[in-house]
Amino acid sequence: MIDLFSVSKVYKSGGPPAISCVNLHVEQGEFIFLVGPSGAGKTTLIKLISREELPTSGRILFLNNDTAAYKPPELLRHRRLMGMVFQDFRLLKSKTIYENVALALEVTGRPPQEIKAKVPAVLARVGLAGKEEAFPSELSGGEQQRAGIARAIVRDPLLILADEPTGNVDPETARGLMELFEEINRGGTTVIIATHAWDLVERMKKRVIALDKGRIIKDERQGSFNHAH
Ligand SMILES: Nc1ncnc2c1ncn2[C@@H]1O[C@H](COP(=O)(O)OP(=O)(O)O)[C@@H](O)[C@H]1O
Ligand SMILES: [Mg+2]
Repeated sequence: MIDLFSVSKVYKSGGPPAISCVNLHVEQGEFIFLVGPSGAGKTTLIKLISREELPTSGRILFLNNDTAAYKPPELLRHRRLMGMVFQDFRLLKSKTIYENVALALEVTGRPPQEIKAKVPAVLARVGLAGKEEAFPSELSGGEQQRAGIARAIVRDPLLILADEPTGNVDPETARGLMELFEEINRGGTTVIIATHAWDLVERMKKRVIALDKGRIIKDERQGSFNHAH
């Protein structure tokens, strides 16, 4: 699904690479943790895959398409095939939970009938049935992130990219969110999560890719966090 060939990313010319000579192959349906210290390049790698950033050198293929060669319609299609989840949720504060999730469908021009059917179903799936009319400020951090996840999955993406999605919630809530990602992955969606939640990474026995100074220093099936150091 995703292939990186000798990908490097330098933000400031002459500066150190944020990502350095990375080679990576991701199959459809995988569940991957990206780990590594702050500044290791996790967010940059996610932005290269989402094509928010372009590589300075190397090639990134998504479904065998060179993402650097996209024309605007292809870039739009690329973005619609993925759902993004952020540490700070990024919900619109002046909109209800229902409206936040509905917006993701409205911008793609889905018919109102479909939106009316789909949004409550997705909210129920993430455990937010009954919270449709609440505003983000009326929800706990864990619930807000569930809304963020609902928004990410409502278009049935092939891939979920989550950047430290449990960074703002307590450990017990983090566990519940990870279980939700696991459930989404069981439905066939590829999931890539950058995280510091080492205890959960240890427990979940997924593929673990460890970055340090922009390089992949470990890539383990059913890996653990500790062995990366
Ligand atoms: N937009 C940017 N401009 C300049 N440097 C950046 C930018 N984004 C990230 N960096 C640098 O790239 C390196 C990797 O950062 P990042 O990908 O955010 O790592 P992580 O998510 O693992 O903490 C860091 O040295 C960071 O300072
Ligand atoms: Mg980061």
